[in-house]
Amino acid sequence: MKPVKIADNVHFLQVNHFNRRLFDSLIPLPEGTSYNAYLVKGGKRTALLDTADPEKREVLFDFLRGTEKLDYVIAHHAEQDHSGSIPFVLERFPEAKVVTNPKCKELLMSHLHVPADRFIEVKDGETLDLGGKTLRFIYTPWVHWPETMSTWLQEDGILFSCDFFGSHLATGAIFSEERVVHDPMKRYYAEIMMPFRTSVMANLEKIGGLGVRMVAPSHGPVHRDARFVMDLYREWAGGPTRNKALVAYVSMHGSTGVMVNRLVSGLQERGIEVEKINIEQFDEGRVAMSLVDATTVVIGTPTVLAGPHPKAVYGAYLANALRPKARYISVMGSYGWGGKTVEILAGMLPNLKAEVLKPVMVKGLPTGADLVLVDELAVLISEKHEALFRKG
Ligand code: FEO
Repeated sequence: MKPVKIADNVHFLQVNHFNRRLFDSLIPLPEGTSYNAYLVKGGKRTALLDTADPEKREVLFDFLRGTEKLDYVIAHHAEQDHSGSIPFVLERFPEAKVVTNPKCKELLMSHLHVPADRFIEVKDGETLDLGGKTLRFIYTPWVHWPETMSTWLQEDGILFSCDFFGSHLATGAIFSEERVVHDPMKRYYAEIMMPFRTSVMANLEKIGGLGVRMVAPSHGPVHRDARFVMDLYREWAGGPTRNKALVAYVSMHGSTGVMVNRLVSGLQERGIEVEKINIEQFDEGRVAMSLVDATTVVIGTPTVLAGPHPKAVYGAYLANALRPKARYISVMGSYGWGGKTVEILAGMLPNLKAEVLKPVMVKGLPTGADLVLVDELAVLISEKHEALFRKG
């Protein structure tokens, strides 16, 4: 494999992992992923920016076959999909030093046992001159770990952003196309960045004045249209929600399903976009993507063993952890003889600063009267949406 030139003496080492199907033993990867490293050669020194997941280190070393000397390994982030091959790179290039911030150094020492004398610590805004190539290190914390940072290559207008603006997308394409990268980027944002919306906005502000021409993340293709990806992040992290409801549900014998269908029809009739997701087979990424801009979230669940169905519990836990912008939540479902489904679910969502709209729990198969209650919930949701979107 040969590194691909993206600017003069700047090369892209795109380590694709096409058949990886799960990240962090949690997140589905429908399109695989990539671990991107970059090689920047100056007149005096050479730097490798990030490495790759150790499972794919042979591909990284194949890319580095023509590299005789490496002076620096820039570590933007201690998570092992980018840092895991650092010990192997240091072994191959014994003169190389790891350049990073003190927090990342601490994490690399504890997670990978990199010795302290292999590090050069850099401060926020500090520069490193490679000879005609100036790397400026910009702390961009909490996207998505406390130590995350980016590197700004001044001469070429490239921001190496690591996970920030990334996408789990294994592809032969070097540069992103908007129509291809939009959904993988949104999925990635939703799964990884959404809990840190405040930090995302602060970091966007911080890099906003640099005049970035190209964004080179450590997952997915390189973005030549920097404004496009930054605007997407601004919209997802800081923009308003849409006139949309997420109805995530599970139904054991069909009764909750009848209620969900009735609610979905009622909302659609009132002009609300609905995303109805059956969470029996849970796709965390799909649910997370929907949470990015949903105004209302309704969880549909039967009562099992006196509480919500475990899939609904998992959905509520996930939604709470992801801290979406939703303004309203509700619960609906069927029970056999009682239980505390609503109390349990409502108590699981403290991170959502959302108003709980009157839940609808019915006994057994819903009757006509029960479905009127569902209709009333649809009316209530539409009134809330109308008030919100009328106000702008
Ligand atoms: Fe791609 Fe947070 O590692």
